[in-house]
Amino acid sequence: MKRTALITGASGGIGFEFAKLLAQDSYNVVLIARTESRLIKIKKEFEKKYNVDVIFFFKDLTKPNVVKEIYNELKRQNIKIDVLINNAGFGNFGKFYETSWEKEAKILQLNIVALTHLTKLFLKDMVERGDGKILNVSSTSAFQPGPLMSVYYASKAYVQSFSEAIATEVRGTGVTVTALCPGPVKTEFQKKVSDIEPHLINLNLSTPESVARYGYHALQRGDRVAIPGLLNQFLIHAVNFIPRTAVIDIVYLLQEKNRKSKINITSFIPNFKRII
Ligand SMILES: NC(=O)c1ccc[n+]([C@@H]2O[C@H](COP(=O)([O-])OP(=O)(O)OC[C@H]3O[C@@H](n4cnc5c(N)ncnc54)[C@H](OP(=O)(O)O)[C@@H]3O)[C@@H](O)[C@H]2O)c1
Repeated sequence: MKRTALITGASGGIGFEFAKLLAQDSYNVVLIARTESRLIKIKKEFEKKYNVDVIFFFKDLTKPNVVKEIYNELKRQNIKIDVLINNAGFGNFGKFYETSWEKEAKILQLNIVALTHLTKLFLKDMVERGDGKILNVSSTSAFQPGPLMSVYYASKAYVQSFSEAIATEVRGTGVTVTALCPGPVKTEFQKKVSDIEPHLINLNLSTPESVARYGYHALQRGDRVAIPGLLNQFLIHAVNFIPRTAVIDIVYLLQEKNRKSKINITSFIPNFKRII
């Protein structure tokens, strides 16, 4: 019997690549995203090319009760989820005192609440069966505060902390939990963050294919943490050796520069001196 994987944010970017890898490996897939037309296209393509069943829900995961509705519907159809990929997520840019609360509330709802609720419902079933795999898409942003993207960075710090904690709780149950921590990836994510075009980030861009492939292998092995890319691995470890205030100032500087806004370099000099 075929196994089934549920992927959130499967209509594009990293989530679509995960769905493709799973379908290629003969998993039936349950796809969640808001854009129905993309999901219909993917369903047709996967069913034809990979001979798997594709179910989709065009749902907004920031809306209350949606997670429970999806879970109940899958139960009703007697579909058991063997692999859960919590991938859907987004961010915003700007000083917290100037940004939109409506957008930030949705970031918290999608990146944190929906991810936690889906994990809550499916993890319990997996542990009862003694079998299952979960991958939560975190980020290199999880490892330090991110001025100008404060809510997004903090949401990923939550995902990282939560995923590593429950990965430890489920040890020995037959279930694994993996946190995937990509650096910048060439998807629609950056465009949705802000109208101001990013440019600095282009220096260290991975493809969604390579990130999903790396995450997929980590998921299959049951790794606790997966950081794609040598530079990202280096940077995540390097922050442990640099004073935290300096790290935060550097992130601020890079975020400002990335979005081409004006920058006052002199305000960072004291912290750079401290690093040297
Ligand atoms: N790209 C990067 O640089 C980067 C770096 C590190 C981590 N990440 C993380 O990687 C994950 C995937 O991002 P991506 O780069 O692939 O971004 P993306 O290309 O923007 O894809 C996001 C996916 O999430 C879905 N989605 C967005 N809001 C949703 C909602 N309210 N309800 C249901 N689905 C929703 C989108 O589909 P619809 O619009 O059709 O709903 C889309 O399928 C995110 O968690 C992101 O934080 C990205």
